[in-house]
Amino acid sequence: MRPSAEGRTSSQAGRRCGLAPDNQKVFIIVSGLMDLRGQTALITGGAKRLGAAVVRALAGEGVHCVIHYRHSESEATALAEEVRAQGVKAAIVQGDLAYPSKVGAIWEAANAKVGPIDLLINSASIFPEGTLDDLNEETLTENMNVNALAPFHLAQHMAAAGREGVVINFLDTMVRDYDKKHVPYHLSKKALHDLTRIMAVEFAPGIRVNGVAPGLVLPPEGKDESYLEGLKHSNLLESYGSAEQITHAVLFLLTNRFVTGQTIYIDGGRNLRGSMYE
Ligand SMILES: NC(=O)c1ccc[n+]([C@@H]2O[C@H](COP(=O)([O-])OP(=O)(O)OC[C@H]3O[C@@H](n4cnc5c(N)ncnc54)[C@H](OP(=O)(O)O)[C@@H]3O)[C@@H](O)[C@H]2O)c1
Repeated sequence: MRPSAEGRTSSQAGRRCGLAPDNQKVFIIVSGLMDLRGQTALITGGAKRLGAAVVRALAGEGVHCVIHYRHSESEATALAEEVRAQGVKAAIVQGDLAYPSKVGAIWEAANAKVGPIDLLINSASIFPEGTLDDLNEETLTENMNVNALAPFHLAQHMAAAGREGVVINFLDTMVRDYDKKHVPYHLSKKALHDLTRIMAVEFAPGIRVNGVAPGLVLPPEGKDESYLEGLKHSNLLESYGSAEQITHAVLFLLTNRFVTGQTIYIDGGRNLRGSMYE
């Protein structure tokens, strides 16, 4: 079992016993929460947007960060400098997740940067438009490779390393419904949703695997807040979310040692609507 930053084993880290200051009462705190300080995270697609928000949130908890990017090198470099100033180690790693055979090299490179990866945040994704008529081998393969297979292979490498760890997969509230405008993407996120549950079973007890399913949070690149305003009627709370609400769920799932195979929907109740995204 791996010692934590304070030298305790990770299963002991959430349990503290001792005497009260008056030496009278024995108190026992069993928090069951994981201390993230000193752990190392790989955040895919971490240079911008929600991935970058996760990097900042983790750095704020004392987590060393390996920021993965594909094209956004300058943003990744600037973000690494920013979080280093907060006192954590940070590095960047480049790689295209569209090629399953190259995912192993990205994992190796990430582990060589700061130290063995304890926390894997699979945030990188593509979100192309495409209806059922557009579904073909090329579009389905690309979406499956980036959005489902790459997260799976990275988690597989973590499991093969034989250490304890936690995986968070970024899903989409529409995995509960039918997104008819983004069918290849939709199928790949549904696959990742099921893989989250499957991996939780197969990689237990050493590795916990959970999902975060955002709804309307950030407008797609190139669109502004009017995009969110125009769609907020689509959820029960008639609102849209923030990056902070997403990272709050990520931190909960990372730290709570008794949760695996779960998906938290941060979507204003969108997943309960049961109507199609049109
Ligand atoms: N934003 C939302 O409101 C929302 C809603 C529902 C679900 N989600 C999910 O939440 C996650 C984060 O959302 P987001 O909007 O922040 O994501 P995003 O901006 O769409 O994408 C994040 C990053 O993924 C990377 N990426 C794309 N294709 C890649 C490839 N082939 N290889 C490696 N990296 C690749 C890109 O990195 P580079 O820039 O370095 O190329 C991009 O910056 C995603 O999984 C998304 O599906 C988000």
